[in-house]
Amino acid sequence: MGRERIVGGDQVGNDEDLVQFSLRPSSLSEYIGQHELRAKLEVLLEAARQRDEAVEHVLLYGPPGLGKTTLAHIIAREMGSKIISTSGPGLQRAADLMGILTNLNDGDVLFIDEIHRLSSVIEEFIYPAMEDYKVDFVVDKGAFAKVINVPLKRFTLIGATTRAGMLSAPLRDRFGLHYHLDFYPPEDLAIIVRRSAQLLEIQIENEAADVVAGRSRGTPRIANRLLRRVRDYAAVKGDGKVGVDIAVKALDTEGVDSMGLDALDRKLLETIIRYYKGGPVGIEALGATLNEEIDTLVDMVEPFLLKIGYIRRTKRGRTVSEEAARHLGLKIGTDGPQADLF
Ligand SMILES: Nc1ncnc2c1ncn2[C@@H]1O[C@H](COP(=O)(O)OP(=O)(O)OP(=O)(O)O)[C@@H](O)[C@H]1O
Ligand SMILES: [Mg+2]
Repeated sequence: MGRERIVGGDQVGNDEDLVQFSLRPSSLSEYIGQHELRAKLEVLLEAARQRDEAVEHVLLYGPPGLGKTTLAHIIAREMGSKIISTSGPGLQRAADLMGILTNLNDGDVLFIDEIHRLSSVIEEFIYPAMEDYKVDFVVDKGAFAKVINVPLKRFTLIGATTRAGMLSAPLRDRFGLHYHLDFYPPEDLAIIVRRSAQLLEIQIENEAADVVAGRSRGTPRIANRLLRRVRDYAAVKGDGKVGVDIAVKALDTEGVDSMGLDALDRKLLETIIRYYKGGPVGIEALGATLNEEIDTLVDMVEPFLLKIGYIRRTKRGRTVSEEAARHLGLKIGTDGPQADLF
């Protein structure tokens, strides 16, 4: 993937993985926010436990960094079963998947991240596994080819995707449960920030935690990342304690503004406002003008801007709102195409 953004919801690097891993809630009761989803899950898990049955296949979708992987681990743990994690692009050969599936026990969880990127061969292979708990495996070739029918245990497939729309309908339909994760409100993020601060032994004032939460684009992974930047700043420029002043200065220095927008967000908005006179502009044209991959814009940049109403999606493309222009100190229409933009 392209550049690393401090406010990107995606994972970056192994060190970060380690820290985020240590901050990961391990039970449903530790999982903050997403109240509706949690309530539904509690019932689902309790019912499955009572019947001593595996949970139905679950599809989790929503922007990066909101806790899909965390939830998959929690579900496995709450069911007292093991979890095997893999990803759409990582599953290349049917034989690999066969090996994984035949090793699963009743109630075990197979977690497939980025499930919208499964190859069609693997997808076909997975249908009977999901539906009838069996796989058809072809051995030998040509005239000697035989299909062996291998029965599987009652496992639970948990698929995660940032783009439910990119899943084929047959695959989507085979998930009994579809859960959408939405951006977290600042109150919930503030709780997450305070919890993480405690785990990382960072002294942070409540108001400072609110500042970090307010600039985290509704995303726990970003909140945890900003918290560490703020901690570093406090250690170098202050006495280690994080007050409001330190938090604001640290995040300003990182280029994360009061709404949690970074340079790329601002560039995107500014481009629509000044270059495309407020829009509408197609995503391909925007990608070309900004010299950014369309996937990056669609997965990492747009969802939050849509959420806060800074951009809108219309049939003819993206438009920008008055509010967004005000935030940037610009006016739609008057600041026409400008040479200094690029
Ligand atoms: N509800 C929550 N409460 C507390 N911390 C959370 C919560 N959800 C996520 N986190 C934190 O955010 C981090 C990112 O979560 P996670 O890896 O589950 O995101 P994800 O949705 O799987 O993202 P991706 O789409 O990039 O795989 C975790 O390390 C965890 O510390
Ligand atoms: Mg994940």
